[in-house]
Amino acid sequence: MFGSNITTTADAQQRYIKHYYRLHAQLYDFTRWAFLFGRNSLIKALPFASGQPLDILEVGCGTGFNLKRLALRYPNATLTGVDVSEDMLAQTTRKLAGIGNKIYLMEQPYGKEKPINKKFDVILFSYSLSMINPQWKEVLEQAANNLKEGGVVAIVDFHNTRVPILWRWLRGHNVRIGGHLYNALQTTFTPLKSEIHKAYNGLWEYFLFIGKCK
Ligand SMILES: C[S@@+](CC[C@H](N)C(=O)[O-])C[C@H]1O[C@@H](n2cnc3c(N)ncnc32)[C@H](O)[C@@H]1O
Repeated sequence: MFGSNITTTADAQQRYIKHYYRLHAQLYDFTRWAFLFGRNSLIKALPFASGQPLDILEVGCGTGFNLKRLALRYPNATLTGVDVSEDMLAQTTRKLAGIGNKIYLMEQPYGKEKPINKKFDVILFSYSLSMINPQWKEVLEQAANNLKEGGVVAIVDFHNTRVPILWRWLRGHNVRIGGHLYNALQTTFTPLKSEIHKAYNGLWEYFLFIGKCK
């Protein structure tokens, strides 16, 4: 289960993630800035004016990096963060202390087995979808069901790499990289923004996607 094979059931995925972040939650903010690119750009590209009373959900909110930036850009928004890892959510709670927005944090997996019965203007996935294996497709379908009319999904994640050692290293951390997410997003949603960027001169690529329901 903790080897270089990607998890093959949703239960195993959630067990792996909880275990993995027990330690990594403490190191996360000190290390991830060096390779989780595009997170600020995605928030800046959201097609809503600041000040709107939006309902925003982040799936796999981690330590609250994006929720904090969303709160600053949208001070009247209601923010919901869902995450399977209690250790990551503990960091979010600390980070968001004193923020004026209404904030709901939910410790649970996101998906059809435990649906959130609410509709959102924005559903954001930031480097979470590539870890949600094998159930990423069902999770995207759930996100489409959770969008209000006119709402958008906003996603930043790894796209691809031609470097086998990196591909294997990411797989060893349950991250699937190979262009599958970007391709599926084009057919599931109508793109408003869809870009692929190079990291470290092409060592790997990451993508930004904002789309509406078809
Ligand atoms: C790489 S971190 C990204 C955190 C944050 N979005 C960011 O950009 O910094 C992935 C997060 O997704 C969460 N996650 C993984 N699988 C999940 C699932 N099935 N349901 C909800 N959250 C999940 C993990 O616990 C982790 O906090």
